[in-house]
Amino acid sequence: LNYLTPKSRQEVLDLLVTGLKRLEYRGYDSTGVAIDSPDNKNIVMVKRTGKVKVLEEAIQEHFSGREYSEPVLTHVGIAHTRWATHGVPCEKNSHPHRSDDENGFVVVHNGIITNYNDVKTFLSKRGYEFESDTDTEVFAKLVHHLWKTHPTYSFRELVEQAILQVEGAFAIAVKSKYFPGECVASRRSSPLLVGIKTKTRLATDHIPILYGKDADSGKPQVLPRSESTSEFMPLEEKEVEYFFASDASAVIEHTNRVIYLEDDDVAAVRDGTLSIHRLKKSLDDPHAREITTLKMEIQQIMKGNYDYFMQKEIFEQPDSVVNTMRGRVRFDGNAIVLGGIKDYIPEIKRCRRLMLIGCGTSYHSAVATRQLLEELTELPVMVELASDFLDRNTPIFRDDVCFFISQSGETADTLMALRYCKQRGALIVGITNTVGSSICRESHCGVHINAGPEIGVASTKAYTSQFISLVMFALVMSEDRLSLQQRRLEILQALSKLADQIRDVLQLDSKVKELAKDLYQHKSLLIMGRGYNFATCLEGALKVKELTYMHSEGIMAGELKHGPLALVDDSMPVLMIVLRDPVYVKCMNALQQVTSRKGCPIIICEEGDEETKAFSSRHLEIPRTVDCLQGILTVIPMQLLSYHIAVLRGCDVDCPRNLAKSVTVE
Ligand code: G6P
Repeated sequence: LNYLTPKSRQEVLDLLVTGLKRLEYRGYDSTGVAIDSPDNKNIVMVKRTGKVKVLEEAIQEHFSGREYSEPVLTHVGIAHTRWATHGVPCEKNSHPHRSDDENGFVVVHNGIITNYNDVKTFLSKRGYEFESDTDTEVFAKLVHHLWKTHPTYSFRELVEQAILQVEGAFAIAVKSKYFPGECVASRRSSPLLVGIKTKTRLATDHIPILYGKDADSGKPQVLPRSESTSEFMPLEEKEVEYFFASDASAVIEHTNRVIYLEDDDVAAVRDGTLSIHRLKKSLDDPHAREITTLKMEIQQIMKGNYDYFMQKEIFEQPDSVVNTMRGRVRFDGNAIVLGGIKDYIPEIKRCRRLMLIGCGTSYHSAVATRQLLEELTELPVMVELASDFLDRNTPIFRDDVCFFISQSGETADTLMALRYCKQRGALIVGITNTVGSSICRESHCGVHINAGPEIGVASTKAYTSQFISLVMFALVMSEDRLSLQQRRLEILQALSKLADQIRDVLQLDSKVKELAKDLYQHKSLLIMGRGYNFATCLEGALKVKELTYMHSEGIMAGELKHGPLALVDDSMPVLMIVLRDPVYVKCMNALQQVTSRKGCPIIICEEGDEETKAFSSRHLEIPRTVDCLQGILTVIPMQLLSYHIAVLRGCDVDCPRNLAKSVTVE
C-alpha cells in the first residue's frame, strides 16, 4: 500500500512482482496479482499457471497502456505465489480469489481453511457459485455475504467477522472495490508481517492494539492510561508505504522496520493509518505490537555470481558455520555461552529426557547429533519426526525438554508439535534460522543458528548450522563434567578447524561433478553408512530425491544384510561412507558384503586412506576431524553431488517440483 510518493500502477506491479520473486521459494506452481483499474472503480486481476516469470510476462502484456503509467498517490495491490494444497495448479485455482460481484472482494491466502466445505454449503444455499476447487475462495465469498448482510460494517469488521467463521490456518490479505485504498490482513498459524516504510524516522517503536467489538465505529478504544498504552502513538504517518508479507525477504529492499503479527490480529490500513485490532483481550495480552528493526541485508537474498541460490548456500558454509559459533565459542578459554538458553541450563540438566523434533533436513540434524548429546549429557535423547510424534500422541511430561528444530521456524507440523508439548508443561527450546518466526516466538528459550537467509528450497547451510548449534549445546551441558573435559577439548579444537576443512571439501566440486556425470542417467542411488554418518546418508538421499527426482535411499549399513542387500548388483550405484572411527571395521564388513555381490561402490573416505580406497570404483577424500563432526564434512559432497546431478538432468535446482521451502500446512 502506497501513500508515500506517487507511483504508477506499473510501478506498483513491479514492486509486487519483485516481492513475489523473493517469496517464490515458498511456492511456485501458480501466481496472480490484483490492482485497481485506472478509473479506480474496479479491480483488475491477472493469474497464471507456473512461476512468477510467467506472470511477469502476462503483466507486461496486460498493463502496458498509458493509463497504467499515470502516477497515483494511494494504491493497494495484492499478489500471491501458490503451493497447491486444495485443487491442482491452474489459473482458476490461483490466487487472488474473488467474490461473485466482479471482483468486489479479492483475497490472497496461505494455509488451509479446514471447514471450507461447511462454509461452502452455507454460502451455496444462499446462491453463491464457486469457480475454483480451493478452500480460499470461500473466504472471498464469505466476506461478500457479510457485507451484504451487514452494510454498516467497516472493512476491518467484515474481515474480523469472517475469520471468526473459519477454522484452520491462514494468513490472508483482502482488498475490495467497495473500500478503495484500504487493505485488511490477518493470520492464524501462518506467518504474516507488516513492513513500514516512511520518509522520516518513525516516531514510535510500538503501535497500540485496539481491543473490543466497536473499535472502528466511534472512537477507537485505546486502553486507558493506567494500562500504560497511552505512551504508544497510533501509526498515523501521512507519507508511508505499508507491506503485508509472509516473510521479511519480500520487503527488505523497501524497509527494515516490521511488525510480526500474532494469531488473530487483524491489521487494517485506511487513509494511511495502520491499526491492529483484536476482538478479545485476555489478561496477559500486551498493549502494543513492537516495530522490530531487521538486520537482514538485501545482498543476502541475492544470488550474486552463482547460478543458483543452492549453489551459493553450499559455498557459503565456511562462513555460515563461523557465524553460528560467533560470539558463542571461545577457543582460547574453552568456553561456550549460548545466550538464548543460558538461564535455563540448570533446569535442562535436571530434566527427564531430551526430545529433538523436526521435519525433513531439520530432523536429520537431530539424527546427526543424537549420539553426541547422549554422550555429553548422559540423558536419554529421543529424536522425532514432528508429524509422527503428533500422530502417536506421544506422552510428554513437565520435566521433558523439547527442542524444535526448524530453518524457517514456521513449519506447521513442527509448530503443532511445539504447542502440544508446551500445553503439557515441557520446556520448549527453539533452534531456528529465522528471527521473529512463530517457533522462535513460542519457545521459552532457544538458539538462533545465524546461518543467514536460506532461499534454495533444499536446505544446505541451515543443516550444518543446526548441527553445530546442537554440538555447542552438548558442550555447554558437559562444561562441569571433569571426566568429559578431554573429549570436550578435542571437539572444540576440531570446531576451530572446521571452516578451513569445509573449504577443502568444497575443492572437491569438480571431482564431484565428474561423478555426477557417471550417475545422472541412473534410476537410483543407494547411500550407506552408520554411526555418526548415518544422518549424512539420510540427508544425502533426501537431497538427491528433492533435487533430481531420482530414487535414493539412505541405508544404515548395519541393516544392509537385513534387506537392502537384495538391491545390490553390478549396475546399482552405491555410495558408502567409510571413515576411520569406532564403526570403521563394521563399515568395512558392509563394504565387503557389497563388493562380493559385484557392487562397485563409490567411497567417501579419509585423506590418504589407501586401504579403504582400494575397494572403490571412485572415491572422494575428506580431511580428518573428530568423529562427531565428520557428518558436516561428509554431507557437503552429498550436497554438491545432488546439485550437479540436478543440473545435468535439467531440473530447476532452487525450485524442485511439488515442494516448498516453508510448509505452513499440516
Ligand atoms: C520442507 C522443505 C525441507 C525442509 C523441511 C523442514 O519440507 O522442503 O527442505 O527441511 O520443510 O523445514 P524447516 O523450515 O522446519 O527446517
